Amino acid sequence: MTQNRRVHRLRSASPAVLPSLLMCDFGNLERELMRLEGAGVEALHLDVMDGSFVPNLTYGFPIIEALRRLTDLPLDVHLMIDHPERYINHFAHAGADLITIHVEATEQPGEVLNQIRSLGLGSGLALNPDTPLTRIERFLDQCDLVLVMSVNAGFGGQKFNTIALEKLRRLNEIRPAGMMLEVDGGVNSSTIASCAAAGADLFVVGSAIFGQDNYTAAVHGLNELLQTA
Ligand code: DX5
Ligand code: ZN
Repeated sequence: MTQNRRVHRLRSASPAVLPSLLMCDFGNLERELMRLEGAGVEALHLDVMDGSFVPNLTYGFPIIEALRRLTDLPLDVHLMIDHPERYINHFAHAGADLITIHVEATEQPGEVLNQIRSLGLGSGLALNPDTPLTRIERFLDQCDLVLVMSVNAGFGGQKFNTIALEKLRRLNEIRPAGMMLEVDGGVNSSTIASCAAAGADLFVVGSAIFGQDNYTAAVHGLNELLQTA
């Protein structure tokens, strides 16, 4: 288990809602960050896409570096990129605290997870809805986090796929002590409670926060559903 201070803080803060910054106002990054910190979020979820592993392109090192300068919140970096092993060092230097790779994106997930941990960061492994759990089970001891995708990686605003609930339940039974379970895609006020009941600790939310005028009300509303789940 990694000893990274911010990863430890996030583990202690769970269950927690993590905003996915995909839909934030990048022209006003500092203001967006102030609004999110004001809403009491415990970490930021950053979606990096390469236009190859997924058919969409987002952002990379400069935005992560900028966020690192602006906040002490844990930065949870979700890499939707092919052959992530090429860039782990770069993302570590940019200021990531947790780096999650996709099992579908590399031939050597175990080595990449070790590489992430050897840099003192939290290691995460993600799987898409069509990927069976058998693809990741042998790597669980090398994971600080498993990210169960409840939509196909690539775009915000998609509908929640309930296959994620079955995977969360099974992972919750077999996970090593200290490993966090995260769910990402279509998490909103209608789906968050069932994710919590299935065993998730971290709940990535994009449109259900950034589609609202009041981030504090949105985050508090979701947190309340977590408390009662
Ligand atoms: C999808 C991303 C998600 C996404 C979440 O590929 O990994 O983090 O932005 O957005 P919503 O909550 O709108 O599904
Ligand atoms: Zn994500």
